Amino acid sequence: MPNKSFSIKINQKIKPFEKTIVVDSDKSLSIRSFLIGSICQNISKAENILESEDVFSTIECLQKLGVKIKKIKPKEYLIFGKGVGSLFAKKNLKLDFGNSGTASRLLISILSTTPNIEVIVTGDQSLKKRSMKKLITLMEEFGAEFLPKNKFNFPLKLVSTEMPVGIECEVDVSAQLKSAVIFAGLNSFGNTSIIENKRSRDHTENMLKKNTNSIKIKEGKKRIIKVFGKRELNPFKIKVPGDPSSAAFFTALTLLNKKSSIKIKNVGLNPTRIGFFEILKRQKAKIKFNNLKIANNEKSGDIIVNSCKLKPIKTPSHMYSRMVDEYPILFVIAALIKGVSVFKNISELASKESNRITEMQKVLRQIGIKSVYSKNELKIFGKGLINASNKRINVPNLGDHRICMSSFILALLTGAKIKIKNFETVFTSSPSFLKIMKTLGAKFEIQK
Ligand code: S3P
Repeated sequence: MPNKSFSIKINQKIKPFEKTIVVDSDKSLSIRSFLIGSICQNISKAENILESEDVFSTIECLQKLGVKIKKIKPKEYLIFGKGVGSLFAKKNLKLDFGNSGTASRLLISILSTTPNIEVIVTGDQSLKKRSMKKLITLMEEFGAEFLPKNKFNFPLKLVSTEMPVGIECEVDVSAQLKSAVIFAGLNSFGNTSIIENKRSRDHTENMLKKNTNSIKIKEGKKRIIKVFGKRELNPFKIKVPGDPSSAAFFTALTLLNKKSSIKIKNVGLNPTRIGFFEILKRQKAKIKFNNLKIANNEKSGDIIVNSCKLKPIKTPSHMYSRMVDEYPILFVIAALIKGVSVFKNISELASKESNRITEMQKVLRQIGIKSVYSKNELKIFGKGLINASNKRINVPNLGDHRICMSSFILALLTGAKIKIKNFETVFTSSPSFLKIMKTLGAKFEIQK
């Protein structure tokens, strides 16, 4: 159920603030809770679920596949698992994943090795532009078919395999592809073996870890994940922490807004997700993690941020997957620090909800910030915290929540007059964004 479209207009800077906030729950963990719950035995329970468009798309698709999901309280759900390989679809059922790359790739992988599946998979305008080629190549190895052949964008027809057999493969930077192979392997005969060359988020592994009959992980420079197919999965209970990717926007705003501080309570601090905070902490940004705890193999805690002076940012290649979703807001920070910031090995960003390299370059150019992208490396020539109240920024409809939120923060910090179209796309990941911004004192206008 897509939200009604609206634009956001901002024409004044934000004042200093000192606040405690709670951000929206983690999207990756929320989506995985429903997907994994639906293939477990018996009933799983998920608390503090993110109630956003991407998660609703996941729930709707699973319900169409015969999974009973019951909301028992706000943000609290029971998932009545059907067991590994037991989802069912009427022939030519249409599954619409909306804006969600994660929901689409992960559920397609589950269905690829589930018998008798013949479904149409599709999404919104942004998702239809994103290539599924890498996913398709992997799922074809398990025996699934995607029609028409040699077409890699939605809409597509998925025909599952009746005889799924485990595979051996290597994955690079993508947690979605790694998770896809794990899910497809769970319902395949024999074993599936994944060599992880670069460490990406490990929520799928953490959620399945207790099922030692189904998954084993050998840690090392190259991590090896072994999946043993056709074994039943135990139900789970999870309480989802706040999303570090949502917290990153409020962290950036606080760091750069003079005389400001914020406490962001109960945020997921899984080491594979916090590259953004680590890179900034390394250069003495005033960011602290407090009240640390571990539950369901996931670390969480409070993030405390105080505004301070920052040095230009240099992100090494190997950090890419640990801050994959935070680049747009990092580019905003870089633009507002005096000096040249350098972001290496970021070509994959061109395949996100929009081309996040060129689109952020376009946004920054409108307030006179120069940037150069060449050889898989972006340089941003930051000007310090400029006053851009005589400049205008227009952000078109890109269907990209993170570009919307990053541009919003750029305008609040520089005073640039901004119009961001189709801001409703922010509801895919962060339904509370505008409400929290209001409590911090941001002034903005909603235009329907
Ligand atoms: C996600 C993995 C990342 C990330 C996305 C969520 C996940 O994508 O950008 O927002 O939940 O697995 P890739 O794994 O494709 O890089």
